[in-house]
Amino acid sequence: IGYAGGDSDDTVLERLLNGLSNLEYRGYDSAGIAVANAPLAVEKRQGELSELERALAGGGTEFDGSADSETGIGSDAVDGFDGPTGIGHTRWSTHGPPSDVNAHPHTSPDGSVAVVHNGIIENYRELREELSATGYEFRSDTDTEVVPHLIDRERAKGADRFAAFRAAIDRLDGSYAIAAVFPSCETIFVARDESPLVLGLGADGNFLASDVPAFIEYTNQVVYLDDGEFAAVSPSSVTVSDELGSVVEKSVETIDWDPEDAGKSGYDHYMRKEITEQPRAIRDCLRGRIEELGATVSLPELEELESPSAVQFVACGTSYHAGLFGERLLQRRGIPAQTFVASEYDADQLPVDEETLVVGVTQSGETADTMRALRGANRAGATTLALTNVVASSAARECDHVLYIRAGPEISVAATKSFASQQVTLSLLATALAETADPSSSASREHLRELRRLPDYIQSVLDDSNARSVAEAFLESDAYFFIGRGYNAPVALEGALKLKEITYRHAEGFPAGELKHGPLALVTEATPVFAVVSSREKTSATIGNVTEVQARGAPVVAVTDSPETVGSHADFVLEVPETHPAVMPIVANVQLQLVAYWLADALDRPIDKPRNLAKSVTVL
Ligand code: G6P
Repeated sequence: IGYAGGDSDDTVLERLLNGLSNLEYRGYDSAGIAVANAPLAVEKRQGELSELERALAGGGTEFDGSADSETGIGSDAVDGFDGPTGIGHTRWSTHGPPSDVNAHPHTSPDGSVAVVHNGIIENYRELREELSATGYEFRSDTDTEVVPHLIDRERAKGADRFAAFRAAIDRLDGSYAIAAVFPSCETIFVARDESPLVLGLGADGNFLASDVPAFIEYTNQVVYLDDGEFAAVSPSSVTVSDELGSVVEKSVETIDWDPEDAGKSGYDHYMRKEITEQPRAIRDCLRGRIEELGATVSLPELEELESPSAVQFVACGTSYHAGLFGERLLQRRGIPAQTFVASEYDADQLPVDEETLVVGVTQSGETADTMRALRGANRAGATTLALTNVVASSAARECDHVLYIRAGPEISVAATKSFASQQVTLSLLATALAETADPSSSASREHLRELRRLPDYIQSVLDDSNARSVAEAFLESDAYFFIGRGYNAPVALEGALKLKEITYRHAEGFPAGELKHGPLALVTEATPVFAVVSSREKTSATIGNVTEVQARGAPVVAVTDSPETVGSHADFVLEVPETHPAVMPIVANVQLQLVAYWLADALDRPIDKPRNLAKSVTVL
């Protein structure tokens, strides 16, 4: 959040803290603010907002240029944070664990600028080296800290504040929403590329934030910045410009959300918001990880990882389904792989040695069953890898290697975007391991190209899905079955899990061939069967299973990229774009998420917090 406007009854500081508290629902690990006093007033702390407030109540700190305290900011007490303008930030770590020093804002060496940033700067390693070579000292492990140093360097060359800010932004590859403040300057400078940023036009001052709830109690007049745009936000004006510096006329929109819904960006539930965030989550996940020419994967996190002789996945719930998907990806690349429900895994009873890679797939990085399995694998001498969403989580800290899925905070108990990001990360991992095993392999080229297109494929489903009418056609069914083969089998299981979690209806998923070995006895006119059928993955065999259930009178919903081939066998079609067989199920799953969501919505269930379930289960 940023706020420019010193004339209101509330102080800048109050509005910043209020804004951060309105963003608390997003989940975060540290918080900080900078106010444009001279020198800049900066305070930042690991932990809850209350930690930051406690530190401020203790007198705050004034930037004195020293890096001797843990925060890297000085310790001289100042009266207050009463400058005309300020910025605040709650951090969800992507580079560097949560700590005071890694919290935002980040400042230049002499405190001449403070910066907050959301997103990922892909080329930060190069920039860090370049800046270090010219004498800049880095205090944090973050990618963000290059930005204040770049601005400082431009200022030293004589650029004015905005020109220096623009020149710094021009050097960045990646995604960002960035805001910067300078001492005694009432203007906040802002830039956006691929990370959300919205401006709020208030009666006695102007705001910027990554999300409307940060300021909705003060104004509902907003301007959305587009990628590549800059803004100068002062107490009396907001000016938006493009990359070349030309002023852009923006329309002002009026937000009519109930403040209660604001945290959900106007959606009724976090689950729906998170479903719609999948294109962005996947872009973040892929960022910088596929080489420009699209033929190879770059995962510097795994540089030290030796080629394993076999891979074992351990996971629970939705993450277990991601493991099943990863297992198929590896097996088809000739790497032996197996998935275990974490609570059933016993490394002592399995062939495990240092050439065995045990991958804990866990969104939270804290699930007790998964941690137990990983610790057992460690003790048995396996090499362990955490595939997780939470930086410095238990899994990340305790495993030999870690690969982050970069889905961003997920609040709804039912996992949605984290599952998509797990599947994408596993696709990259499988390709990277196959490349190590056989550097000449070129089979991955099409797969990687289609992974890059995946955000657009998912967007097209989100824009044009008939999942709601399909869900409403089956409000009163006895049970819901989900089938799929090969790459599509894990999402059949996941489709059923999602539906049962949030609708409380009976749902089961099966590898399609298994249906005839028992579950078929339950198939009737009152049990719709959702079949995930891809045009390039065991198509005719799955269609065979579809005709078996149709013969028993069950309505069939085909989730497919090939409606011409499959449509005549189905009562409803949920279409997805035609793509690589290992990418298709990731898109198909979005349709299934929407079916579960709309059914639960029609049944008026408490979608974000289903009964008896918890987001992170830390008991065995
Ligand atoms: C809980 C959640 C599930 C989740 C599972 C594993 O049961 O309700 O949605 O899939 O834990 O969580 P993890 O954080 O390890 O992925």
